[in-house]
Amino acid sequence: MQRILPSPRRPLTAAGTRGLATSAARRANRAVVYHGTGDPRSVLHATTYPDLPRPPPHALNVRLLLAPVNPADLNVVEGVYPARPAPADALAPGHALARPVYVGGSEGLAQVTDVGSDVRGVSEGDWVVMAGQQLGTWASARTLSAEDVVKLPPGLSEVNGATITVNPPTAYNMLHDYVKLQEGDWVMQNGANSAVGQAVIQIAAKEGLKTLNFVRSRRVQDDLDSLKQQLKSLGATEVLTYDELEDKSLGERVKGLTGGKPLRLLLNCVSGPATTQMVRLLGADAHLVSYGAMSRQPLALPTSAFIFRNLACHGFWQSRWYQTHSRAEREALLARLARMQLKEPEHEVVVLPAHESDADATERIRKVMEALAKGQHGKKVLLRIEQP
Ligand SMILES: NC(=O)c1ccc[n+]([C@@H]2O[C@H](COP(=O)([O-])OP(=O)(O)OC[C@H]3O[C@@H](n4cnc5c(N)ncnc54)[C@H](OP(=O)(O)O)[C@@H]3O)[C@@H](O)[C@H]2O)c1
Repeated sequence: MQRILPSPRRPLTAAGTRGLATSAARRANRAVVYHGTGDPRSVLHATTYPDLPRPPPHALNVRLLLAPVNPADLNVVEGVYPARPAPADALAPGHALARPVYVGGSEGLAQVTDVGSDVRGVSEGDWVVMAGQQLGTWASARTLSAEDVVKLPPGLSEVNGATITVNPPTAYNMLHDYVKLQEGDWVMQNGANSAVGQAVIQIAAKEGLKTLNFVRSRRVQDDLDSLKQQLKSLGATEVLTYDELEDKSLGERVKGLTGGKPLRLLLNCVSGPATTQMVRLLGADAHLVSYGAMSRQPLALPTSAFIFRNLACHGFWQSRWYQTHSRAEREALLARLARMQLKEPEHEVVVLPAHESDADATERIRKVMEALAKGQHGKKVLLRIEQP
């Protein structure tokens, strides 16, 4: 087992060394929780709870270093996502809550602070990521079953570690599980600037694949130009906007771009009318893989595409992949992705500072939710919840 070294950008403090459990014992914890599902802007709140006692034999205590706010996390809070967290009656043993809470967040990077007597292969100080779903990562510290964590492969930054279990595996699996693509083949995708889209671009480029990427237009042309430039610097071959789908000559332009090579894979996280138009650009025997619906609109497809072009449609869910693959397969995939050294997704770290009251932390988190609801963030939000 390889020891994971801390990120050079955030050196470990005394609280991050092997003595962490002892030094942390005097501290409290904080989590972002909700009692019932609803609009994240109104149901989420911050709550403080006592420090964790030593873990039971098969468990470990972790300190959460960084946890993303993914679109699916918001859907879970809204109550419209099929996977749900288990309600917690207490956030620390002996600290009974008046009402059970759900802790938000499913993905995240944590550092092991104390190891149960029967746990093998993980040591205090190791960096781990979540192997299970909906474990409640929007917290400063949790007690988790040893089965629920995987040691992080070496060589990753904090941000890459915190975001490695959902989006990069989704991108990798969708690129490999549906069509056997050869070097020089083309992949088309929408939501190309999403974290998944950025991973698709990078993995495809590393494997010699070309990508035709669609994004939403921007009010200011300079913003669109810099977005296109950013995606091209990741390896995107071409970046277009959904508005360009209205152009009747787009089919010919795309043929010119691909040299007539048929597009055989379309990755869709948007749905709605733009995706219907993208389907018209696909060649024969193509596969449409849907993994999200950011437009919140249904997907309508021309029947002719099924009859005359043999279109095949699939839904991909990384959670299902985890449920149907062994621990060894999960670890192998994470190790493969770690070796790829993907660039960190565009992100913003939001800190819930130690000195802040729960009321102020609640206000801060609700502001983040407000900005996300209005689509004003444009970057992956990562929460760092300090121990108050
Ligand atoms: N099925 C799975 O296993 C799986 C795994 C991971 C992610 N996902 C899904 O994949 C999607 C992207 O996730 P992520 O974490 O990569 O997202 P993200 O980084 O937060 O990016 C969100 C993306 O959605 C776009 N978007 C937002 N509202 C839109 C709208 N009304 N119409 C068109 N585009 C819109 C944004 O474009 P702008 O920049 O223009 O706002 C941005 O490209 C989500 O739906 C998520 O649930 C699914």
